[in-house]
Amino acid sequence: MSVLAQPLPEVNPLQDPLRFERRVPPCTIVIFGASGDLSKRKLLPALYRLFYERRIPPNFAVVGSSRTPMSDDQFRDRMKDSVAKFLEDAPFDEDIWTSFAQSLYYVPGDLNKPSSYDDVRNKLDQIEKDHQTGGNVLFYLSTQPSYYAEAVLALGEHRLNRGNGWRRVIIEKPFGHDLNSARKLNDEIHKVFDESEVYRIDHYLGKETVQNILAFRFGNGIFEPLWNRRYIDHVQITAAESIGVEGRGGYYQEAGALRDMIQNHLSQVMATIAMEPPTVFDADNVRDERAKLLRAVRVTKPEDVPKYAVAGQYGAAKIGGQDVPGFRQEPSVDPKAQTDTYAAVTFFIDNWRWADVPFYIRTGKRMPKRVTDIAIQFQAPPLGLFKQETKSGLREVRPNLLVLRIQPEEGISLRFLSKSPGSGMRVRPVSMDFNYGSSFGERTPTAYETLLLDAMAGDPTLYTRQDMVEASWQIVQPILDVWAHTTFTFPNYPAGTWGPKESDEMLARQGHVWRIP
Ligand code: BG6
Repeated sequence: MSVLAQPLPEVNPLQDPLRFERRVPPCTIVIFGASGDLSKRKLLPALYRLFYERRIPPNFAVVGSSRTPMSDDQFRDRMKDSVAKFLEDAPFDEDIWTSFAQSLYYVPGDLNKPSSYDDVRNKLDQIEKDHQTGGNVLFYLSTQPSYYAEAVLALGEHRLNRGNGWRRVIIEKPFGHDLNSARKLNDEIHKVFDESEVYRIDHYLGKETVQNILAFRFGNGIFEPLWNRRYIDHVQITAAESIGVEGRGGYYQEAGALRDMIQNHLSQVMATIAMEPPTVFDADNVRDERAKLLRAVRVTKPEDVPKYAVAGQYGAAKIGGQDVPGFRQEPSVDPKAQTDTYAAVTFFIDNWRWADVPFYIRTGKRMPKRVTDIAIQFQAPPLGLFKQETKSGLREVRPNLLVLRIQPEEGISLRFLSKSPGSGMRVRPVSMDFNYGSSFGERTPTAYETLLLDAMAGDPTLYTRQDMVEASWQIVQPILDVWAHTTFTFPNYPAGTWGPKESDEMLARQGHVWRIP
């Protein structure tokens, strides 16, 4: 069954509590770390696309800054190649690029050198006059994380945090390396910017399908009565990647899967699934509910970590006839690295809605496929009248499963039992499917398009707040601490498989199994 999208109602852009039509003021975006991967793959393609769709005003500018010496024109040429290459599902238009490129500038600089900030200020003053940007500036820190605090303090020392218009700063992940460093970073940033000017990015919150969880839960009346411990048996959140560490061995070796994905992206996804409905759909109310949920997650006791958390690391394997190296053989990785390239955890949310419902979260590199989804397993009917046909014979199972697919085939399916045609009451599972692509038939903006536009418009709803970041560190910290003192026998799963057997055992202890997405 497919669900067809209804035409959208007329919306008054002056009353836009639902972030329907962003009205973006003139501004300049300064990207520190502009020669890095994020800038090439995500930020510039997103900005070009917003320009292409006329969603940003003509009087805007982008200033890239990094240590690589380049002129404005060299920067434009480099970015042109990257944008053409990394633009997702969208055409590249030469004429539009030419007019977009007129607003691109470059300032070579070293974040350690005071003169670099003076150079940025001079460029901003010039741009303010030439492009009439009103002095509004959005700084984007896409540098190495160890520079975040230093760069923000230097912005303050050079009075770049104040000017004729507004000033905001976007901080890329990882926000801290652990709970203490995250708190310290917050304190440093608050010396220079007010919390209302700080935009901590978690690109998962900008994904259309993650936003759709809110629409699905709070725009419909039929699911809410079921959305609790009385009807939901457990929840599985999976973020599997088929790729390895792709040249990021150095960073990843220090981070690991728990820090890289669960502390931030997947905790936020869990919060979106489990939070209470906000009373109003605005930045404070939505973020209050997410934060409240994260604070309700039980902090695992150190002695319980082996029961509720599993670490894995992939080893070499042959996939589709090709030799794939193990993590320890990747460039810039220590051949004895104890890094988790796979992590699975069980969380419990100690509140009235969710008491005793396990939330299982797993993520890994070099899994059999790329897929991110959330599976909500409902309880079995109180009396099992029918047995289901399965490969291993007739069984009673929990048939009702709701799967919210974040990527790559975005959609939602609901599984239920149906009578098989023919005599007798044989039943088997079937599903009702909603598919984004076929229902809406239009291009979905990337997370970075949405989030950059929001920051320019001054809407932090989809950005994380200090209390949310701290709460999500709090729940992974005991696991990180125990793992830091554990010597794992790695590798413990071959590349191209679904992770170590200990992860299956973790679920089996609660009578559950990981589904194959
Ligand atoms: C990043 C992680 O934050 O998210 C990467 O650092 C990971 O390791 C990426 O690959 C996944 O994002 P997406 O949008 O491709 O699911």
